[in-house]
Amino acid sequence: MKTRYIVLLLLLTISIKGFSITEDWGKTGHRVTGEIADNYLTKKAKRNIAELLKGQGLAFVSIYADEIKSDDRYRAYSPWHYVNFSFDKKYGEDTPSERGDLVQAIQKCIEVLKNETSSKDDKEFHLKMLVHFIGDLHQPLHVGRGEDKGGNDIQVRWFNDGSNLHRVWDTGMIDYYKMSYTELASNTDELSLAEVEAIEKGDVLDWVYESQSLAKKVYASANVGEKLSYKYMYNHFPTVRSQLQKGGIRLAKVLNDIFG
Ligand code: ADE
Ligand code: ZN
Ligand code: ZN
Repeated sequence: MKTRYIVLLLLLTISIKGFSITEDWGKTGHRVTGEIADNYLTKKAKRNIAELLKGQGLAFVSIYADEIKSDDRYRAYSPWHYVNFSFDKKYGEDTPSERGDLVQAIQKCIEVLKNETSSKDDKEFHLKMLVHFIGDLHQPLHVGRGEDKGGNDIQVRWFNDGSNLHRVWDTGMIDYYKMSYTELASNTDELSLAEVEAIEKGDVLDWVYESQSLAKKVYASANVGEKLSYKYMYNHFPTVRSQLQKGGIRLAKVLNDIFG
């Protein structure tokens, strides 16, 4: 009887793990980006955003787009979290997905927010989505290869657990670091004004290509079945921190353009 329970429990655990909804940067990563962005908003943008979000902060709303994945009514938004296109082509050279992708998602959110005839509810929804998507854009494997679903199909070991390359970059490294989102957001690298301006430069597509070039390095960083642990953390966590910081600064830039 006891063994039966154990087997049942084991099967249940495996099935929950197997079908779990992916969480992109994970809660901590998305919140870090939102929290950092908050520090770079103009006063006017802050006021307008607080009114739309009814006082909820950017860190708080940053995971809304993942939360609604549990609701079938929002299923159409699932492909909006990533954009996969050939590494030797520009975005749009191959016809972009009709189901939408991360680039189209960000364009749509900005369009709704800039449109004076959009309802408040519509603006609130697309603002929450935008906060999340600018975060996703900075996870290199969200600008990945379609054939392996941005590294989701590349199985690796993460310390002693089964994982995949995508998950290591979404959550593995951030969770292993064991800092809260506020700690990570207040321990960013100090940047000069010129460095901040360099990060702010360009547009969404420039940032997509930057992530894609990081994605190429990420794919080269591990072999299928490899055990990744301390050394991988040491080599790649600086990139995670830098991407979260860039995501925050650029999110603020996009929001200041809309609301500032
Ligand atoms: N599913 C398919 N491609 C993906 C990607 N690049 N990131 C996250 N989920 C995906
Ligand atoms: Zn992801
Ligand atoms: Zn996402």
